[in-house]
Amino acid sequence: MKHKIILITALALMSFSSAAFAQTATTTTQHQSDYNYLAAATIVGIAFMLFMVIYFGNIEGITAGAPKRAKAWSKLKDMLNRSVPIEKEKDIMMDHEFDGIKELDNTIPPWFNILFYGTIVISVVYMLNYHVFKINGLSAEEYNDEMKVATMQREELIRTGAFINENTVKLMQDEATLNEGKTIYSANCSACHGPAGGGLIGPNLTDDFWIHGGGIVNVFKTVKYGVPIKGMVSWQNQLNPKQLQAVSNYVLSLKGTNPPNAKQPEGDKYTDSTSVKTDSLKTGTQKADTTTKK
Ligand code: HEC
Repeated sequence: MKHKIILITALALMSFSSAAFAQTATTTTQHQSDYNYLAAATIVGIAFMLFMVIYFGNIEGITAGAPKRAKAWSKLKDMLNRSVPIEKEKDIMMDHEFDGIKELDNTIPPWFNILFYGTIVISVVYMLNYHVFKINGLSAEEYNDEMKVATMQREELIRTGAFINENTVKLMQDEATLNEGKTIYSANCSACHGPAGGGLIGPNLTDDFWIHGGGIVNVFKTVKYGVPIKGMVSWQNQLNPKQLQAVSNYVLSLKGTNPPNAKQPEGDKYTDSTSVKTDSLKTGTQKADTTTKK
């Protein structure tokens, strides 16, 4: 039956492609050559399966029924085993016997020799590949390559500020940081805090008084997580950690600038390194919050 052939072919295709995909998931992305090997291995596997189905399955055999196919399989089995048929066993019987167990002088089965010579062939291919032509790197070289890539990825993460959070945020009052912060402030914050930080809907950011604590850590946290119920937006989805750090530093740099029409101070007077404040924010660690009551 034709659909039987189609079924076998589909099964073969599925098993080989799924094996290839399982492999792909575990290989590292930078080894493009691995994909080529996988593709080649998949094609060879499929070709092999098709050959098995067409040659040994014997398409007419399948359509005509089981006997021919069974014959083809037993032919293959004989070819791989080459054992002496039972009725001729006495010809190769060796003349020793122990507890009724007798030994036969069979030839070494071809399947065993194929495996044995196969290992030799593979070892030559392996040696040429890894040690003579060095097409593929040895484990140590692969390790070094991966370390190189990892270092580059880490540097990129540091550059974009992925490691900056409320535990690592730094007080940085250099010009580049403040300029970046000012740009971010003008675009996102001035509508509520005033163009110079004197306060509009939001509180004055230029005085010594803070509702949620001053200092880089508290300000960073307020900007990052916001105070949604009081109308202060959480900025962590709009600004990346480096930008949060820059704008927080810019806010701190406004201290004492006394812009015109500034709002009255709100909150508590903040000085660095004093008692731990019970934080009104839900998130983050509280260790770094320090403030003094007026
Ligand atoms: C939609 C208006 C709005 C915008 C936009 C806004 N804020 Fe606020 N902000 C507020 C309000 C309102 C508060 C006061 C929250 C409270 O009373 O708890 C506040 C509080 C703060 C505080 C805490 C002040 C304190 O006394 O503890 C900081 C710091 C702050 N904002 C910085 C920023 C920065 C930086 C931006 C821009 C990235 C920004 N805000 C954008 C409305 C806003």
